[in-house]
Amino acid sequence: MKYGFFDDSAMEYVIQTPQTPLPWINYLGNSAFFSLISNTAGGYSFYRDAKLRRITRYRYNNVPTDQGGRCYYIKDAGVLWSPAFLPCKTPLDHYRCRHGLGYTAFESEKNGVRADMTCFVPLNHLCEINSLTLTNTSQSEKKLELFGAVEWCLWNATDDAQNFQRNLNTGEVEVAGSVIYHKTEYRERRNHYTFFGVNAPTSGFDTDRETFLGRFGSWDQPGAILSGKMGNSIANGWAPIACHKLEVALAPGESKNFVFLLGYAELDGAEKWESPSVINKLPARCMMEQFSTQEAVEQSLVELALHWKGLLANYQVSSSDEKLDRMVNIWNQYQCMVTYNMSRSASYFESGLGRGMGFRDSCQDILGFVHMVPQNARQRILDIAAIQFEDGSAYHQYQPLTKRGNTEAGYGFNDDPLWLVACTAAYIRETGDHAILEEMVPFDNQAEKSKPLFEHLRRSIRYILSHTGPHGLPLIGRADWNDCLNLNCFSEQPDESFQTCSNFESGKAESIFIAAMFVKYGCEYAELCSRFGDEAEAAEILGHVQEMEQIVLNHGWDGQWFLRAYDAFGNKVGSHECEEGKIFIEPQGFCAMAGIGIKEGHAEKALSSVQTHLLNDYGIELLAPCFTQYHKELGEITSYPPGYKENGSVFCHSNPWVTIAFAAVSDGDSAYDTYRRIAPAFTEEHSEIRRTEPYVYAQTIAGRSAARYGEAKNSWLTGTAAWGFVSVSQYILGIRPGFDGLIVEPCLPSRITHFTVTRQFRGAIYRITVHNNRSGQYRLLLDGSPLTTSYIPFTEGRAEYNVEVFL
Ligand code: BGC
Repeated sequence: MKYGFFDDSAMEYVIQTPQTPLPWINYLGNSAFFSLISNTAGGYSFYRDAKLRRITRYRYNNVPTDQGGRCYYIKDAGVLWSPAFLPCKTPLDHYRCRHGLGYTAFESEKNGVRADMTCFVPLNHLCEINSLTLTNTSQSEKKLELFGAVEWCLWNATDDAQNFQRNLNTGEVEVAGSVIYHKTEYRERRNHYTFFGVNAPTSGFDTDRETFLGRFGSWDQPGAILSGKMGNSIANGWAPIACHKLEVALAPGESKNFVFLLGYAELDGAEKWESPSVINKLPARCMMEQFSTQEAVEQSLVELALHWKGLLANYQVSSSDEKLDRMVNIWNQYQCMVTYNMSRSASYFESGLGRGMGFRDSCQDILGFVHMVPQNARQRILDIAAIQFEDGSAYHQYQPLTKRGNTEAGYGFNDDPLWLVACTAAYIRETGDHAILEEMVPFDNQAEKSKPLFEHLRRSIRYILSHTGPHGLPLIGRADWNDCLNLNCFSEQPDESFQTCSNFESGKAESIFIAAMFVKYGCEYAELCSRFGDEAEAAEILGHVQEMEQIVLNHGWDGQWFLRAYDAFGNKVGSHECEEGKIFIEPQGFCAMAGIGIKEGHAEKALSSVQTHLLNDYGIELLAPCFTQYHKELGEITSYPPGYKENGSVFCHSNPWVTIAFAAVSDGDSAYDTYRRIAPAFTEEHSEIRRTEPYVYAQTIAGRSAARYGEAKNSWLTGTAAWGFVSVSQYILGIRPGFDGLIVEPCLPSRITHFTVTRQFRGAIYRITVHNNRSGQYRLLLDGSPLTTSYIPFTEGRAEYNVEVFL
């Protein structure tokens, strides 16, 4: 069952009912001001950091779900309704929500009044605009009351939800004309305020929540609206809000537009105040003025559309499979940009309180967006490298506002250092900018401990080499990519973290996954060394890589698949000898990606075991059989009910590794099969089972052992976005950057007989046509002339490359 449809020409997903199984959301914002918005206009906004600069309040776990956000009300002859359905829940005569790139638009109609509302964050501005047009579609004049409201969050979203003995005393606002200012704590340490205004005269307002809602009122039936009497209240402590009331008279056929604007301003020192205790409203006035007309808003929307068009133009495919095209051209790249902005901090499943930017997560995200915003990727790499320690290990997370490592999440996740190598190499392949290696970057954010980025990479590699266990395999530390496989932590207390509780590092628990990473990224590091001047280091590391490969073959092969790990007692994890958790997905994909066991036939065997034991209708499960008992020596993974999360769901992030692995063994049909099982556009028809948005990847899809088999959770902020894009663009379609140019090595299923890709790369445009004749004879023509390899060398100054490939 579907709840909407893809409109590819508009690059939108069009939702036709507010009754989606879950709120289906979108992201607004490009660089500093961000908003989450659901298909019923729920969500919240923040400046840079969803924890420390939360602008509007949102209640996760609220009942009913997804109340709040942007609250608009239209009162028409006693009938109260909301253009986005919530908060009123009044049935609408017509409803549509169009989620597009950086904007969400609602169309609704009730009793002869039509509402069109477009919500977006303009490029380079610190505000969200809600442009609302009301049209009288009836035959008689309409006298409407229109209300627009938001609820302020008192900045730190964690404190806002818990420190009530303070919070209920601090709220302060100012009202001037049609703008309400939220200035809680601006008096002392803060230099920022927010405001909510409208470009038309108002006939009343409220800023005190209780006055507006009433003692037993609620957001769907605010007392002040029902009684017809706004309080014109000025909040003093308690819960400050901003609500404007407007009177709107519409002749038959007439339309009126209103621009509501939610803005953020920062002012320092002498500029902070207009007069004693009165905030300086100049930045707010300028912003209100700038967007005071519908034309200015429309113009800004055009700029936003051009911005997105420009980003997506870097990789566009045209094939016979429209679902593939819409994933590659629109939604997968869009999701990659969202993960760039959010990492794992703020979604409808990530509260914005806990996880800032993850070290490994952000490094992997870069693989998915580096081709769109290489400059941002560069800065991100340098920021991430700055939370590395001198020994090469790293903080596991950092806060986006401060860019400092989080002490709570700690360190000692031994895969982390290698992801820095992965993203740096990807960045250099994309851009050719190897000067980044010479950038001075501090360790642990301490300027006096700065070294070139190259040295950071060296220490990443050395960290792995100096942390090996009894078999010579890398030690896992607190966990590797699988945060929940905690082989050294032995948590027995319900109130402690599975990852950061004591007993860290037995000196025995080893990870075959990190070994595979080392082989893959060790090679990439060695290549960087040999290209940029350190042959001796390159040779030494390649020696270690070869040894590691051999160690995996000797101690990491279980007969039909690769082992996952050795635990703190030296017992095998992910072996046919185990009672549960006999086979894990991660090493099967990553070993083949690293080239381990290909010539021995192990890779193919492992992939075929994946198909036998782990493949279900919705993707590849993380492990099988699922754990039914808690094992403290294995950690959090065994704490989940069977079929959920790391305990045997389709943990989507790891699926593209298998797709790439199938490409590594030249099995195009299987590569495509694993790709399409989780790619959201391909799953749209069973949206009632999947339940999350059909236009973005989710982190997990419940596995066969789960009661709710096929149900997805944690949509949007997942490494699946980046890896999904890498797998399809670089391996199935096969167009991937190398250090010297673009490589074209598609690995296609038989159903795709041809495709064309337009790829912008280092300022040049590549038009690539691939004919999948399945002849087994690879031929590549560059501007009509044959090349002997699949590598198209990049030539500085050349603007266009026309490439034709026959398979
Ligand atoms: C984390 C990732 C981790 C994955 C698998 C996600 O929630 O953000 O860092 O690799 O889970 O455990």
